[in-house]
Amino acid sequence: MKSRVESVFAHLEKKPDVVLLANSVEPHLDNSFFHLFDVPSGLFEGSIEVAHPDGHLDLLTGALEADSAELAAQRDPHTTVHRVGRGEIGPLLARLVPAGATVGLNYRELTHGGYLQLGEMLPGRSFVDAGVGLARARAVKDASEIERIRRAAAIGSQVGTEIPSLLRAGMTELELAAEMEYRMNRLGANGRSFSTIVGFGAHSAEPHYAPDDTRLRPGDSIVCDFGAWYRRYACDITRSFHFGPRDPELKAVHECVERAQQAALETLRPGIAGKEVHAAAAAVIDASPWKGRFTHGLGHALGLAVHDGGTGLAPNVDDLLEEGMVVTVEPGIYLTGRGGVRIEDDVVITKQGYEFLTTAPRGYLEVDA
Ligand code: GLY
Ligand code: MN
Ligand code: MN
Repeated sequence: MKSRVESVFAHLEKKPDVVLLANSVEPHLDNSFFHLFDVPSGLFEGSIEVAHPDGHLDLLTGALEADSAELAAQRDPHTTVHRVGRGEIGPLLARLVPAGATVGLNYRELTHGGYLQLGEMLPGRSFVDAGVGLARARAVKDASEIERIRRAAAIGSQVGTEIPSLLRAGMTELELAAEMEYRMNRLGANGRSFSTIVGFGAHSAEPHYAPDDTRLRPGDSIVCDFGAWYRRYACDITRSFHFGPRDPELKAVHECVERAQQAALETLRPGIAGKEVHAAAAAVIDASPWKGRFTHGLGHALGLAVHDGGTGLAPNVDDLLEEGMVVTVEPGIYLTGRGGVRIEDDVVITKQGYEFLTTAPRGYLEVDA
C-alpha cells in the first residue's frame, strides 16, 4: 500500500525535497500531521514531521507522547519516531533536511512564530507552500478513514433520532445541547466535533448560533447542528423540528429544504463540480417564495476537521468530486426574526453516486408541546 506521504507528494505540483509539518500548541495543531501519522490519541504539541518523497516519515516528538507514537509506528512501516528533548530538535532537523533543500510547509496551519523558528533552525533552506497538496491528499478518504467517519455519523444519527423525545417546554438551549453531547459520549464519541448549535425560535434562523439560556416555547422552530468526534474523525449533522402548534409556513419551508437537498443528492457522482451540486439545491430554493434565504454554501469536506478543506459544494468550487470524498449536503432557509430550517447529511462519493453516512429521519416533524 502506498503511504499517505507518497500521496501528498503526488498532489504537489512543484515537488519540494521534503515536506515539514510543525505543530504549535492547542488549538494550533495541524490536522495534516495526523493524516500522515495515524495515532489514536495525544496532542503532539511542538512535534514535527519530515516527510520524504520515497514515502518515509521522520517524526520528532517529546517524552509526553513518544510511547504512544512508538506503539502506533509498530503498525506503520513508513515512520521512524525520534524521541527528542529540548535543544535536540534543531540539530536533528538540520541532519534530516539537507542544506540547500526546498522545504514544503503548510502555510494554512503553521503559526508565524513556528515559521520564524524553522528559519532559525534551518538556515540556507528555502520554504514553499505545500498547503494545497496536503489538503487535496486529505480530500479522498481511505477505507479506515471512512470507517471512522461512518462510526462518528452513526453516533450523531442515533442522537439525532432521539432529539424529539428530549424536547420539553421550558428547557433551555444549553440543556438540550448538554444532553445531546452526553449521549454522544455515552455512545462512544471522543467528544464533539465542534461547538453544538441548538437554536430555538428566532435563533434557529442564525446558521452558526451559540446556544444560551433561552427557553423552548410552543410554536418554536428548532435547529440542532452537532457532531461526534470519533478517533480524530468528525461527523456533522443538522436536524430541524417544530415544537407545538403547526406553522404552515415553516412546514412548507421544511419541505422546500428537503426538496433542495434531494435535488443536490441526485447530482452527486464522481466528475461533477462542487458548484454544480450547489446550483441544483439553490435552483429549488430560488424558485420558491424564499429566494435569497439560502445564505451559505451547500456543503464542505469532512474528515479530520469538520471543515476539512480540499474541496466543497459551493458556487466558487470548480473542483470535481471523486470517489472516496466525504462531503456534507446542507441546504437551509432562514427567516430572520422568525425561524429557520437546515437539513445536513454526510455522504461518501461512490463509483455510482453517493452513500449516506448519516441516517436520522430528516422529514418534517411537529413535536407535541
Ligand atoms: N456545523 C457547521 C456546519 O454545518 O458547517
Ligand atoms: Mn453542521
Ligand atoms: Mn456542515
